[in-house]
Amino acid sequence: MSDKILKVSRRTLLSGAAGAAALTVTPRLFSPAIAQNAPLKVGLMLPYTGTYAKLGQFIDSGFKLFAEQKGGKLGGRAIEFVQVDDESKPEAATDNMNRLVGREKVDLVVGTVHSGVAMAMVKVARDTNTMMIIPNAGANDATGPMCAPNIFRTSFSNWQTTFPAGKVLVDAGIKNVVTITWRYTAGAEMMGGFTENFTKHGGKVVEDLTLPFPEVEFQALITRIATLRPDAVFSFFAGGGAVKFVKDYAAAGLNKSIPLYGAGFLTDGTLQAQGEAANGIKTTLHYADNLDNPANLAFLKAFKAKTGQDGDIYAVQGFDAAALFDIGLTAVGGDAKARDKMIAAMGAAKIDSPRGPLSFNKAHNPIQNIYLREVRNGRNEMVSIAQANVDDPARGCKLA
Ligand code: PHB
Repeated sequence: MSDKILKVSRRTLLSGAAGAAALTVTPRLFSPAIAQNAPLKVGLMLPYTGTYAKLGQFIDSGFKLFAEQKGGKLGGRAIEFVQVDDESKPEAATDNMNRLVGREKVDLVVGTVHSGVAMAMVKVARDTNTMMIIPNAGANDATGPMCAPNIFRTSFSNWQTTFPAGKVLVDAGIKNVVTITWRYTAGAEMMGGFTENFTKHGGKVVEDLTLPFPEVEFQALITRIATLRPDAVFSFFAGGGAVKFVKDYAAAGLNKSIPLYGAGFLTDGTLQAQGEAANGIKTTLHYADNLDNPANLAFLKAFKAKTGQDGDIYAVQGFDAAALFDIGLTAVGGDAKARDKMIAAMGAAKIDSPRGPLSFNKAHNPIQNIYLREVRNGRNEMVSIAQANVDDPARGCKLA
């Protein structure tokens, strides 16, 4: 794996006189006062290639946008980045994380997108007591049995995004559903959350269809859906895979006869590539493009100005990861070693997020609204709040 770390890139966010001052600091080993001014090292362990590449890039840009808005600092400390491409490969995750923690000695790890990779990172973060913020991966266990004081999540639990959809579909008169997803933690847990609530309200899942991550040969499964003729399909795919699935579903003509629903990742950050094929798809997620709150309007404008692209949920989650760390560091005057106080401030944080109000439960998972959205005119427009202030049950988490 040593070739992987060679691909690590470094960048320090420095601005103006403060940045120049940080650059000139050298004797950090000998003076605690000066050490306070040295840049903090943030490890960004994200997918920069593969089916989740755009997701990783948008998290990265969102995090950096927030830091730039704070003059290149978080909690008054200049920030230096170390980036690792985790390629969404769980088998490489422990080595990548160990190098960030052991060799690079980062002060915070921000990562990642893929639930399997994130769980390997969580194990290392627990063993080494490294501060970690998960800016996407929804693995329920990260804020369940594997919860820890030093681990936070600014995204969602997999359960949280789809549980509300179970009732949405029953309320729409849908009685039986086929589910379809990738065969790994995120897919299984999102279908689990949906099925729990759908069956509780009297719905029936007639078949669960899966294929290995990150495969995109959907044809045989789409044929199976056409044969089963359910009232609706409920799905989770994301990134490049979501683009292809939505297009294949429409190309088979099924979008005209069997409504496609899903976790909002199916249509987030993907609409430009999906085009007409995505029209009318309804999903549940903790974000919608047209949320009309000042934080979202300002965020979308700034993100567009920085990147030339439209912000999405991944960019929001990266932005909020930086906001959360900023709150923690500010509470300790930038002294990341004052760990308990920093963690307490992060746990109590109330963030005015582009997604709406964001706070955290005892397991450090977000408490947030889950919106029902529909794709209209190339945007994920909010239809309603599917469920307000959704709090993951944090099953198995021992934190008080
Ligand atoms: C996950 O693996 O947890 C995951 C990946 C991509 C998403 C959402 C969840 O869009």
